[in-house]
This record gives sequence, C-alpha cells and structure tokens, in this order.
Amino acid sequence: MIKLYKPCKSVVESIDFFEENEINSIIDYGAGKLKNSIYLSERGFEVYAVDKMEQLERSKRYYSNIKLKGLIDYNKISSYDLKVDLVISNFVLNIIEGVEIRIRYIDNSYFKLKTGGCLLIEVRRRRGITPKSCNKAFNQNELNELVLSRGFNLIKSRYSKYSLVGLYIKASN
Ligand SMILES: C[S@@+](CC[C@H](N)C(=O)[O-])C[C@H]1O[C@@H](n2cnc3c(N)ncnc32)[C@H](O)[C@@H]1O
Repeated sequence: MIKLYKPCKSVVESIDFFEENEINSIIDYGAGKLKNSIYLSERGFEVYAVDKMEQLERSKRYYSNIKLKGLIDYNKISSYDLKVDLVISNFVLNIIEGVEIRIRYIDNSYFKLKTGGCLLIEVRRRRGITPKSCNKAFNQNELNELVLSRGFNLIKSRYSKYSLVGLYIKASN
C-alpha cells in the first residue's frame, strides 16, 4: 500500500498507552483523510472512521486493502449501537463552529464509549491571534472545562507550540 498519510504525533505517542490499557476498538471522530484511522488499523486496532460520508468515500479511494471496521456519517453516529474503548479527536473541535455543536460532539463521544473508555483530543492551541483556518483555538483551561463538564475525568494533558493534547476517561454512564 502506498503511504499517503502521516498520523498525528499525539496518536503515535499514545500507542504504548493503548496497548497497556487493552484498547481494541477505536472511533476516529472527524477522520478526514483517514491518516490516523489507517495508521491505527495497520497496528491491529478495530477502527470506525466517522466524518461526512462523502469525505470518507473520497479519502478511502486513495488506499487499497483498507481494513476499517466501519465508515460512519457524522450526522448518523447517534443511531449506531457502539461502545468502543477509545475515541480520538484530532483537530476537529477547532473547526466546529458554535459551542452547542462542540458540546454535542463531546456528548456523542461520551455515549459511544464504554464506561472507563478514553477520549484523546488534540486541538490547535491559542497563542495570541487565532489562525484564519481555525474557528476556535483553545487554551488548556477552555479545553478541560468543555470536556470535564460532560462526564470525563482528566488523565493527562500536554502542550506544544501549536497544539494541546488531553487524554480523558469516561467517568460513568
Ligand atoms: C481538520 S480536519 C482533521 C482530520 C483528521 N482528524 C486529521 O487529524 O487529519 C477536521 C475534520 O473534522 C470533520 N468534522 C467537522 N465537523 C464535524 C463534526 N461535527 N463531527 C465529526 N467530524 C466533523 C471535517 O469534515 C474534517 O474532515
């Protein structure tokens, strides 16, 4: 298979954590060009890629022998009876306009996770002026406030020059 993707650093760096914590099933929520989905499925995880269906179909054409567990339209995610071990969200909250939709996105993540499941979020970090490509950049408090208010506890967080990463655990259903 031609390697067209470069997975996000936060995902690559978390592989040991996923393996140590017996993570098997993963939703890549806002999968875009499938770079993280493909990377994780090639490492043996069961991956459900969620995005606009036309985006998923378009991205899928670049790969042969793609072994994803499912492609799910983001408008239909609520109707899927899934309880996965992990949801990953890479640079999706940045492009969602409106606080209600961001809350719904975190709530959907919550309901598609088993109790004790994890949510790994990476977002563009706010430093001075928000870049034009972003509807919303975050500081650490803003990200934590959003996620912790929706039933998650923080496991760990870190930041780099441009991004913030938070790893959260679903508290209870
Ligand atoms: C900047 S891209 C990031 C793609 C991928 N996660 C990555 O790291 O390469 C953001 C993606 O989020 C998707 N998206 C936007 N709003 C969404 C929503 N409400 N639920 C799920 N995905 C959404 C977009 O269609 C787009 O593919």
